[in-house]
Amino acid sequence: MIYLADTANVEELKKLFYYFPLEGVTTNPTILAAEKKPMSQIMPKLVELVGDKMLHVQMISNKAEDMVREAVAYKKMYDLGDNYFAKIPVTEEGYRAMPMIKDKGINVTATAIFTQQQALVAARAGADWVAPYVNRLDNISSHGIEVVGNIVENIKRYNLNTGVLAASFKTVDQVHRVSMMGSQAATVGFEILERLRSHPMTDTSVEWFENDAKGIYDIDF
Ligand code: E4P
Repeated sequence: MIYLADTANVEELKKLFYYFPLEGVTTNPTILAAEKKPMSQIMPKLVELVGDKMLHVQMISNKAEDMVREAVAYKKMYDLGDNYFAKIPVTEEGYRAMPMIKDKGINVTATAIFTQQQALVAARAGADWVAPYVNRLDNISSHGIEVVGNIVENIKRYNLNTGVLAASFKTVDQVHRVSMMGSQAATVGFEILERLRSHPMTDTSVEWFENDAKGIYDIDF
């Protein structure tokens, strides 16, 4: 499973890209709104930070034709390449838009997925990634992890060229469990990425090693 960062915060991304083996960034209108700046100011910074890693940008249009125009506009405006994915919610118009956007040579990430069948329909419509919302499912007394597992299996079963990009996490355990389900990717917020890569015993062990090394490691490097 690869990791993406579910944030548009420049400071968080700078920190993550410094050390974390991130494969990309995902945004949605809520994530962008949290930055309290217009999208036109945020996008150039995101483009610079992600470099050749993936950048998933959500469309806000409702009609399929408008989603296509929006996807093409961002590509032109920010000179986006093959690492750009237009995030399309799995509405009626969204499903229609997917093959149209693919025809324009733009990658598609189907988003706001809550069921196995939504994911299968999106994969059939040509989505490169499908994004099931784990925590939002758990919060409506459904089973986010199980849904992700079923989607992973179905995509394999039908030999579809689509990856599962699990999204919407509130705990490290949810992330761990989707990795055990074989999800190809997870997009995770800053705080949970920080938590999942660390453990207090690691810091304590490093401290012990440093103490034990004193006077023993006498080689200059
Ligand atoms: C992915 O990009 C989704 O939009 C995002 O993970 C949703 O997360 P939330 O349920 O925490 O808002």
